[in-house]
Amino acid sequence: MLPDAANLLLCPSCRGRFLSSDGGPGNPGAALRCPVGHSFDAAKQGYFNLLVGRGTVFEADSASMVAARFEFLEGGHYRPLAEAVAASVAPALAGDKPVVLDAGTGTGHYLRCTLDTILARHSAVAAIALDISKFALRRAARMNPEAANLVCDVWQPLPVADAAVDAVTVVFAPRNPAEFARVLRPAGLLVVVTPRPGHLAEIAARTGMLGIEPDKDERLAESMGGHFHLNLARDLDLQLSLSPTDVENLAYMGPAGHHLNRASLTGRLAGLAAVTDVWARFRINVFERLQDPGSVTTWPRSVPTH
Ligand SMILES: C[S@@+](CC[C@H](N)C(=O)[O-])C[C@H]1O[C@@H](n2cnc3c(N)ncnc32)[C@H](O)[C@@H]1O
Ligand SMILES: [Zn+2]
Repeated sequence: MLPDAANLLLCPSCRGRFLSSDGGPGNPGAALRCPVGHSFDAAKQGYFNLLVGRGTVFEADSASMVAARFEFLEGGHYRPLAEAVAASVAPALAGDKPVVLDAGTGTGHYLRCTLDTILARHSAVAAIALDISKFALRRAARMNPEAANLVCDVWQPLPVADAAVDAVTVVFAPRNPAEFARVLRPAGLLVVVTPRPGHLAEIAARTGMLGIEPDKDERLAESMGGHFHLNLARDLDLQLSLSPTDVENLAYMGPAGHHLNRASLTGRLAGLAAVTDVWARFRINVFERLQDPGSVTTWPRSVPTH
């Protein structure tokens, strides 16, 4: 079945609107087709791979990194963060069927909470979830079957129509301010979660996790300049009591997972106490779209830290 947001999606090859097709006799799978004839079949898990051309130079999260993220998040440790993201989105929602986009959705954990929160107050919602990792999208498609789960590179033009979305969420994932501004409605909101200095500091050295730059906030605001201004920033600190498996998953699921050898990480964590107390320190930044984005043409890049 095609997701509700299918009519908001653009063909990545020609930028035409997709004419959706739900299969039919001899073609049981859902497919996205554009007027020119480009066609993208749903993978059996339900996501669509919209990477075209040379693909991407970015390193997608591996299957084992995604599995570690899934297991950690399912433990509920970051649940208050998911609820805070969902609450931040609420003021942007308009109409009978609001539309949300989650960029770098990973396993779809945060989008699930956002959708459930919206559905408690609205009768319907449409959702678009983007990630460059097909392993992440396999999980996300299972977690959020009602969303359009799309493999794509957020540094490329997004396969989404102009002014189609009420809210964009980005949780520890790359940001493309120019494209987020384009797909948002004028009164739409961009919610960006970043880690603050001191985030997981108690286990950073032992696990080999990357540190948080002290000027991260300035760099975030700077990278959004020209397209967004910061409306609200809320800090959220969570005290976590983690098992050795939680610590290992936490280390492996982040960017350091691209470089860490799992076996040596397990070795380094041998002898860890049954419970390690750790502080997770987040900032939830809510940006408003500038109504006149001016002539900014560059796409400043921000690197996800966790
Ligand atoms: C640190 S994870 C966060 C995932 C999810 N938001 C969460 O917090 O659970 C970063 C995610 O961004 C995705 N990602 C990295 N580069 C990307 C790109 N250029 N385009 C789209 N997604 C990207 C990764 O595959 C990964 O799933
Ligand atoms: Zn096309």
